[in-house]
Amino acid sequence: MVLLEGKVAVITGAGSGIGAAIARLFAVEGAKVLLGDLAEGGAALAAGLAADGHAAGFQHVDVTDEASVAELMQAAVTLFGRLDILVANAGIPERKSPIHELDLVDWRRVIDVDLTGVAICNKFAAGIMRATGGGAIVNMASILAHVGQENSNAYSAAKAAVVNLTRSVALTYALQGIRANCVSPGYVDTPLLAKLPEATRQAMLVRQPIGRLARPGEIAEVVAFLASDKASIITGACVNADGGYTAI
Ligand SMILES: NC(=O)c1ccc[n+]([C@@H]2O[C@H](COP(=O)([O-])OP(=O)(O)OC[C@H]3O[C@@H](n4cnc5c(N)ncnc54)[C@H](O)[C@@H]3O)[C@@H](O)[C@H]2O)c1
Repeated sequence: MVLLEGKVAVITGAGSGIGAAIARLFAVEGAKVLLGDLAEGGAALAAGLAADGHAAGFQHVDVTDEASVAELMQAAVTLFGRLDILVANAGIPERKSPIHELDLVDWRRVIDVDLTGVAICNKFAAGIMRATGGGAIVNMASILAHVGQENSNAYSAAKAAVVNLTRSVALTYALQGIRANCVSPGYVDTPLLAKLPEATRQAMLVRQPIGRLARPGEIAEVVAFLASDKASIITGACVNADGGYTAI
């Protein structure tokens, strides 16, 4: 018996990095996966998973657009008959700056994707799950939800808000069978970080007590556990998957 046998999962931002690792692991663990992403990269991944015998599909989505997200969640029901799991993972980085130089266009863009996008995904997933007896939501936060970082503005604000939004969602649906939790990764070796200069990567390693970056698959394991029935008593929680970063 695998961890997510027969579950239907929507994963946003599934075309790259952590989201792609979640999609792969969920498929291996027996879930039927619908990959949602703004970029088309998720289509090739879904096709590869399907070719390997997994139940997988791809749907283009912009998480900041209500109609687009509603279509994504409905597509899961149309394709696979139900919706058991949402992983609201899509997110973008910010342009770091001291607050006195804050670029409001960048602020609004990051809040829109990293916070409002998560809320919209929760809205349409919860709407379906409450009508069908429950489900599990896992929202992607960050260590920057819990600790400050110089020159981080919208990203830190959005991720901290995601943690508390998750608590409220958990309480709202606690008696309707919907669990909502979030995961706060530390630095993860995704394509995003791979593009950074070596000096920046080294500076990140200094802040990682375990002396290395996380692998996307390690974050996916935490998400899979929270999404599974093994985590049936956990709701409203945030798991820091950060190699000890926030323990300092
Ligand atoms: N990489 C890290 O070190 C790290 C650390 C903490 C938290 N996170 C969080 O994990 C999540 C995934 O990060 P990643 O490193 O895998 O990033 P990534 O850039 O590799 O992947 C993010 C995906 O989200 C998609 N996306 C962006 N905007 C979207 C939108 N409006 N609608 C739909 N899809 C959209 C992108 O196309 C991309 O495929 C993000 O929420 C990020 O903030 C990452």
